[in-house]
Order: sequence, then structure tokens, then C-alpha cells
Amino acid sequence: MLIAIDGPAGAGKSTVARKLAGLLGYNYVDTGAMYRAVTLIALTSNVSIHDTEALTRLAEELEIRFERGANDETLVIANGRDVTRDIRTPEVSRFVSLVAQVPGVRGHLTDKQRTMAGLGQVVMDGRDIGTVVLPEAGMKIFLTATVEERARRRFFETAGEGYSISLQDHIDEIGTRDILDASREIAPLVQAPDAVVIDTTGKDPDQVVELILSLLRGG
Ligand code: CDP
Repeated sequence: MLIAIDGPAGAGKSTVARKLAGLLGYNYVDTGAMYRAVTLIALTSNVSIHDTEALTRLAEELEIRFERGANDETLVIANGRDVTRDIRTPEVSRFVSLVAQVPGVRGHLTDKQRTMAGLGQVVMDGRDIGTVVLPEAGMKIFLTATVEERARRRFFETAGEGYSISLQDHIDEIGTRDILDASREIAPLVQAPDAVVIDTTGKDPDQVVELILSLLRGG
């Protein structure tokens, strides 16, 4: 069984996907972390964000795996290094949607994602999982929420991490990323026709997980 969870930034995909995978005993694949890892490596190795050939090479050479850490946290190990924290910095968030537009980057990361799904029993979250990466997924979920609620969640998530980012900054960053992700030519953020849409505004992650479990039970 493959479960695809797509939606815009801050809709709750990763929290819901991780919890769901834990409850079902499935593997969790965070595809956003893969685009973020390529972006981080570019930013820290002096590769220009506009050098599509070099970015494509970084995506091709990327070795990434997900490990379960303490407190059920998912650790992201890229090219042998724990990048769990570093891929979530505001700088990476600012550039990741530009990197994700590069066709070569998408091609290599999509191949890696399909390989990971080939092992079966996977919950995968992203933007194009139900439409492009795993169109054959047995369950497709599209999570949404208002941009204000999504920005508020990010604001509280990052509040403890020492960045001085205002709620308005989050609204602007998420809004810009939504537009870039939804308007790109290849694999844009769009709901699959056969996806179940869940508006998570005002719902906590456990309620969303419960809803998905009841859908899986055929309810
Ligand atoms: O966690 P958040 O919702 O902020 O974003 P993410 O899931 O970590 O994804 C970061 C960025 O990677 C997105 O804004 C997209 O530009 C890109 N991405 C993508 O293009 N396709 C995917 N399957 C996953 C992420």
C-alpha cells in the first residue's frame, strides 16, 4: 500500500504523514526534505542557485535516508551528514522552490522517491506525489488550510529556534512559495483528481490522522 499526501506549505503534511506511518508501521518519506537537502548543499558549497547543471548533478549524487530519532523525530541524513536542522533554516526555505523548478533536479529526486516507494508500505508527502511520483498510490490525500493558519503554525514551530521571523514574514514566505510551486511547468502543486481533500484549518494533527485512518478502513 502506498499513501500519498500532498498540499501546500504548513498544511500539516509532515506531522500527519509521520504519525500515520508510525501507527501503520509504514516507512515515511519526506520528499520536501530531499529538495531542501539539495538546496542546502548548493548554498554551502558555493553552487549558484541558477546553475541548473550543477544543481542537477547535486540531485543525482544525493544520498539521502530517513532515520527515526528520539521523540519520534525523523532524522534526515544527506551524504552521510545529519541535516535535520540545517534544511529548515529560513535561507533554505527562501531558495528551495527555485531549486525545485529545475527539471533535472526533479527528474533525479523523483527517481529516488520511486525507488524508496518500491519497497512498499510507504507514506510519502510532498507536492506532486499523487499526480506524478506515485499516480498508482492506493490512497491520495490533499491537505489544505488557510494561509494565515499555515503561517501561524510555522510561526509557533520556529519560535523556539531563535530566528526572528514575524508572522507576516511567514505569510509572505509561504505565499510566495505557494505561487512558485503551483505555477511551475513541471509537476506543479495541484490536487490529483482522485485525491481526498481535507481542510485542516482548526483541526489538530491527531484529528486529521484519525480521519485518514477511517478513510483507510473504508469509512
Ligand atoms: O515543510 P514545507 O511544507 O515548508 O515544505 P517542504 O515539504 O519541506 O517542501 C519544500 C519545498 O520543496 C516546496 O515548497 C517545493 O518547492 C519543493 N517540493 C517539491 O517541489 N516537490 C515535492 N514533492 C516536495 C517539495
